[in-house]
Amino acid sequence: AQEVKDEEKLYRYKGVLYPRILCPEENLKALESVEAREDDILLAAYPKCGFNWMEGVLTKIMAAGMGKQPQTLKPPLLEFFGPDMIKVAASPRLLGLHLHPDNIPASFYTKKTKMVVVFRNPKDTAVSYFHFSNGNPVLPSQSWETFYPQFLSGDVPWGSYFDHALAWDKKIDDPSVLIVTYEELKQDLSEGVRQISSFLGFSLTDAQIQKISEDSTFKAMKETSASSHGPLGNVFFRKGEVGDWKNHFTAEQSQEMDRAFSKQLAGTRLGARLHY
Ligand code: A3P
Repeated sequence: AQEVKDEEKLYRYKGVLYPRILCPEENLKALESVEAREDDILLAAYPKCGFNWMEGVLTKIMAAGMGKQPQTLKPPLLEFFGPDMIKVAASPRLLGLHLHPDNIPASFYTKKTKMVVVFRNPKDTAVSYFHFSNGNPVLPSQSWETFYPQFLSGDVPWGSYFDHALAWDKKIDDPSVLIVTYEELKQDLSEGVRQISSFLGFSLTDAQIQKISEDSTFKAMKETSASSHGPLGNVFFRKGEVGDWKNHFTAEQSQEMDRAFSKQLAGTRLGARLHY
């Protein structure tokens, strides 16, 4: 991956940028034919909102609830695999994606697959994405000054943060969708674990919920990140805090993003939950 020039690392599919090596066009095309199963659990998140955190939590909840490990893709994104790879996984599968909800294969909606969505405030998401882009060889390296306007205008892999947030807000009352936020999980992880477990139909004991929460703190997950995520472990589990944006945004950038946020998400219930 290091040998690919920065300007060739991303490409557009249906107008949206994707990392070329991980999400080749044939995979994205083939996604349309993916067959969901009723007992799949789908984790959906805009990049850098806490996908890997929730993947760990969901795996542990499913394992505790079923008494056996679920089948997951490694790395766990549908976009990285063709449908044949997905087909061979035994049920119940834990599947993940970063796609905009309108681009999720239709079968997940017709089968009413349970979807857990994690969202995060836009400023910390942007900062996390900036560091990730510099730390992950399949993405271009760049300065904050060049990355920030791209994030604001949605010209980053998987598209606009605001478009994703707006589209998920419209699904907030869908009984097959549970939206959790990074900030709420930081505030009370065991409550989040309890909520997700009951949404998925598992009745876990208090002790199980406690254990899952203790094993899913940032510190606990960072400690095991080399074995769970290989050499990029430290890039995936970077800082794990709310408010790191204050170390990167200028006052002008902060105000500009506040204006973009109000313009696009004011009055939405999801927007009201994305505190920063
Ligand atoms: P930072 O870059 O702000 O540290 P994703 O998994 O969607 O790529 O999101 C990555 C972000 O989630 C990173 O944010 C990472 O540190 C944070 N994260 C991962 N595990 C976490 C945990 N257990 N608790 C809190 N934050 C976590």
